[in-house]
Amino acid sequence: MKVYMAPLEGITSYIFRNAFAKYYGGIDRYFTPFITPHPKKGFSLSEKRDILPENNTKITVIPQILTNQVDDFVNLSREIAEFGYDEVNLNLGCPSKTVTSKKKGSGALADVEELERFLDGIFSRCEQKISIKTRIGDSDEKEWEKILEIYEKYPLSELIVHPRLRVDFYRGEIHWLAWKRAMQSEKKLVYNGDICTKDDAKSIFQFGVETLMIGRGLLKNPELISEIRGEKGKKEMNRSRFKQFHDEIYLGYAQIMSGDTPTLFKMKELWGFWITSFAGKEKYLKKIRKVQNRAEYIQIVSELLEV
Ligand SMILES: Cc1cc2nc3c(=O)[nH]c(=O)nc-3n(C[C@H](O)[C@H](O)[C@H](O)COP(=O)(O)O)c2cc1C
Repeated sequence: MKVYMAPLEGITSYIFRNAFAKYYGGIDRYFTPFITPHPKKGFSLSEKRDILPENNTKITVIPQILTNQVDDFVNLSREIAEFGYDEVNLNLGCPSKTVTSKKKGSGALADVEELERFLDGIFSRCEQKISIKTRIGDSDEKEWEKILEIYEKYPLSELIVHPRLRVDFYRGEIHWLAWKRAMQSEKKLVYNGDICTKDDAKSIFQFGVETLMIGRGLLKNPELISEIRGEKGKKEMNRSRFKQFHDEIYLGYAQIMSGDTPTLFKMKELWGFWITSFAGKEKYLKKIRKVQNRAEYIQIVSELLEV
C-alpha cells in the first residue's frame, strides 16, 4: 500500500510538504504543484525554491509540468533534471478555465489526435521517466476508452487517474465505470479523488489497486494518513501536534514572504481546509479570514487551538 500527496497549487509547497513529513509522515511521494514553462525567463523564484534539492532532502518529490508543447516540455524536464530529478509528471487534469482554454491540463483531452502527437513527441525525446496525472475526459465518460488506449501506447511510469471529466471540476460523482475500465489496463495505476476517510481508502484498495493519491482529505485531516495506515483510530485530533505543524508552516512562510499580508494569505487558504477538523469552531474561520496582522492572527489561532 502506497499513499501519495496530491499537488495543490498554492498549498502543497516545499514548506507544507516538509512540515507534513515531519509531523505526520507516511507519504511515499509528494508531487509539486504544476510548473509552467517560461522558455525565456527560466524558473520563478518560488518554482526554484520548490524543487531545490536542499529544500526537499527528506521527502521524495516528483515535479509536475503543465504544457501542451513538446519543446517546452522537453526543455523544462531537462532543466528539472539538472536538480537531480529522474522523473517528471505531466498534468492532464487541471480543470481551471485559464488553463483549459489554452488546451492544457484537462483541456488537452478533447482533441485526442493532438494529445497523441504531444505524447509521441515527449516520450520519444525526454530522457526522464514520465508519469501522467489525468482526468477521464472532457465532457463525456465515453471519451475515456480512446484516451486510455492512447496512454497504453507509451511507457508511462505511472498513470494517476482522477475519475472525473473536465466539466465536473472538483465536484460531482466519481465515474466508477471509467475507473473500473482503467483497472483492466496493464499500466501502473494510482487512484485519486475524494478519499476523506479510512473507509474511502479501504474501498479503493479493495479494487486491488496498490497506490492512492490524496489531496483535500489530507489537508482537512492530516491524521488521515495514520488512520489509513492503521496507526490510529478515528478520535479527536492531537492539537499540540497540529500546533507544531501549523507553526512550522507559518514560520516557514513568514521567513520567505515580505510582510504580513502574503503570509496571512497563505495561512487563511490553509484554514479553509483545516477548520473541518475543529467541529464547533467554525466561527473562528470568519475571524481568521478578517485578520490583518500577525499578532491578531496568532491570538486567534491560540484561542482556537487552546494549546
Ligand atoms: C486548490 C487546488 C489546487 C490544485 N492544484 C493542482 C496542481 O497544481 N496540479 C494537479 O495535478 N492537480 C491539482 N489539483 C487537483 C488535486 O491534485 C487532486 O487531483 C484533486 O483535488 C482531487 O483529489 P482529492 O479529492 O484527493 O483532493 C488541485 C486541486 C485543488 C483543490
